[in-house]
Amino acid sequence: MSSSGTLMPAVVSLAQFPRTRYQGSKRKLAAAIVEQLRDLEFTTVLDAFGGTGAVAYALKRIGKHVTYNDVLAFNHQIGLALIEDDCVRLGDEEIESIGVRRPGAIYGDFIQRTFAGIYFTDEENEWLDTAVGNTRRIENRYSRALAWFALFQSAMVKRPYNLFHRSNLYMRTADVTRSFGNKATWDRSFQAYFRRFANEANAALIDSGGLCRAIGRDALDMEPGFDLVYIDTPYINRAGVGVDYHHFYHFLEGMVRYDEWPDLIDRRFKHRPLARVDQPWSDPRRCGEMFRRLFARFRDSILAVSYRSDGIPSVDELATMLREVKRHVRVIDGPLYKYALSTNSRSKEVLLIGRD
Ligand SMILES: C[S@@+](CC[C@H](N)C(=O)[O-])C[C@H]1O[C@@H](n2cnc3c(N)ncnc32)[C@H](O)[C@@H]1O
Repeated sequence: MSSSGTLMPAVVSLAQFPRTRYQGSKRKLAAAIVEQLRDLEFTTVLDAFGGTGAVAYALKRIGKHVTYNDVLAFNHQIGLALIEDDCVRLGDEEIESIGVRRPGAIYGDFIQRTFAGIYFTDEENEWLDTAVGNTRRIENRYSRALAWFALFQSAMVKRPYNLFHRSNLYMRTADVTRSFGNKATWDRSFQAYFRRFANEANAALIDSGGLCRAIGRDALDMEPGFDLVYIDTPYINRAGVGVDYHHFYHFLEGMVRYDEWPDLIDRRFKHRPLARVDQPWSDPRRCGEMFRRLFARFRDSILAVSYRSDGIPSVDELATMLREVKRHVRVIDGPLYKYALSTNSRSKEVLLIGRD
């Protein structure tokens, strides 16, 4: 592996960008990544696996025409809220009334009926059914996306581990001494969190002159033609275990697909996840082939890949694949950087850049 640099201190500021506990978020690294790309010639850029939008946002800040993409519908809303939207805010009135039933309006009770005792209290489930109904009624798509963003953040922050992979409301409610987590954080009201996160998202909006948009597709279905493509796929660790975003965040995906939700759930499991869908990017046997296809599809663009030193395929294998489509390949080692839940301090951040 050739190393021709290190991830340098940040210059682009992400201070306004909301903090989140989303798995694999590059919030802490986004500015350093963008610094590495700054000297390359590009105007249009695709963040093909956008997640929280941290990297797309850093690129937007420096005036690029950014297309954010993520296959999950809830992430698409985050992209609309923080990347495509330049200036439409969620109003105070909408914020304060999000969990209040409007006279004459009809609300669903799917969350109350389906998730009793699983993630949130009965009262909170009722608040969520109401807030989802009110969010769906917001006419402006950007205001609506901001409300979705605040709902997702509120739901995540109130969860042990910030995930929906287990039915573990008892961790909050049981009268025991806890070795981790913060009961006060979990118990704070949805409305208080919603207000805080909606205000954070409102404050993050920027109009930097670039034409920005958000899309919700499989990365391999995106049309080529971007000057640069940034690639940050689900991480597969050395044990061959990949992060399954569809499973970890199924509850957020369900909220945004509320009408379809009953048909998507796998009721065999106590925590009521969505039925599994094929995840080739999280499969150690197939992800190498996926990278090869992705690189081939975007072969005419500069390719920038965020990676981990212990990922599968290996950094060397990835660099070899990049060289099949790009003349110059740089492998940049980053500082030690741990994901929120990772105890694996030997795994380092790496950035690979392929260009002609
Ligand atoms: C490592 S995370 C990206 C993190 C992001 N760079 C950030 O800073 O938050 C990988 C993302 O890829 C998305 N994803 C998984 N499979 C995908 C696919 N086939 N096409 C597009 N996005 C996909 C997941 O939903 C997840 O948000």
